[in-house]
Amino acid sequence: MTLLLAAHADEFRAALREWFLRERRQMPWRRERSVYRTVVSEFMLQQTQVDTVIPYFENWIQKWGGFEALAQADEADVLRAWEGLGYYSRAKNLLGVAKRIVAEKRIPQSAEEWRNFKGIGAYTAAAIASISQGVPAAVVDGNVVRILARLSGNENVFRDSASAATAFSGIADALLDAKNPGDHNEAMMELGALICTKHSPKCEVCPVARFCRARERGIEAQLPRFLPKATKKVEVVRLWCRIGDEILLVRNTAGTRRLKNLCEFPRAEDFSPFPKASAQWSQIFEGRRGIANEAITERFLCVPEKNVARLEKSFSGTESEIFRVKISESEKLTLSGPHRKWLPLLLKNSA
Ligand code: ADE
Repeated sequence: MTLLLAAHADEFRAALREWFLRERRQMPWRRERSVYRTVVSEFMLQQTQVDTVIPYFENWIQKWGGFEALAQADEADVLRAWEGLGYYSRAKNLLGVAKRIVAEKRIPQSAEEWRNFKGIGAYTAAAIASISQGVPAAVVDGNVVRILARLSGNENVFRDSASAATAFSGIADALLDAKNPGDHNEAMMELGALICTKHSPKCEVCPVARFCRARERGIEAQLPRFLPKATKKVEVVRLWCRIGDEILLVRNTAGTRRLKNLCEFPRAEDFSPFPKASAQWSQIFEGRRGIANEAITERFLCVPEKNVARLEKSFSGTESEIFRVKISESEKLTLSGPHRKWLPLLLKNSA
């Protein structure tokens, strides 16, 4: 740990805790604590935002109030209650945790023991043990890495988030408030979510800004540093299908909340068999978009109106449906950002 932090660790913990107790957001799993409620919320919070999780958590607790009740649930019911949260292996693993705890008649008592359960990694194990059992185990996730890189002014370039987490685990342990480990961990999560954000951190209102090396040097927004992810070039062929004043779109019928109901222009690969005549279809537009580490080029082919009805019947996309919509009504749909932007150009170029 850097000297600045090491010398002032007690002051740091006190300032963070005081801020957290004053400013923390209400969350149903914070209202009433138990091991079970903490396990359920931490599983749901893996890869999912707090706001999305809240209604699922409330519903889950109403259905299954403890490990015993959950252990007796049908997997199909469990998956149904998870529908919309995505990453369904989490639901199966959560059910597995309940079954094992009930079968063994024993609740794990340390982060190491929690880690022996399928679906519980270092972060979730430390979160459950500290928040619900008062075990002094520090959590280290992307938020904590960001806070610690900035506090310590660490300018190293990390290969990925896992190696950064390893690099900061020592500081995280040393800074942990061993008397209030759960509050301390949640305070770090809250600080990362509300103040020490990735972009435009709110240092003016940060309760621990005075301990921050990066802030001192004015480089807080540049930390932590990571090697650029290799971008992969991807090409997608999309189809522009217009029938009078209607167009063909595809709607996601699965996926997380954000992705469910999202509409896009159909991809050529989602039709089977794909008509031979397509060789004659002309390209009317080429657009670029980025998703995660993919640089995607989308080429749009214009399908002659006489071919559309047949093509529509050969749609074979999974977890999505094809449908027609009046161009004038398309504003009411959730069209993906790039496709919304390209619609006027596609209309113009196909005219
Ligand atoms: N993310 C993961 N665990 C959390 C918790 N207990 N509170 C808020 N956000 C979280």
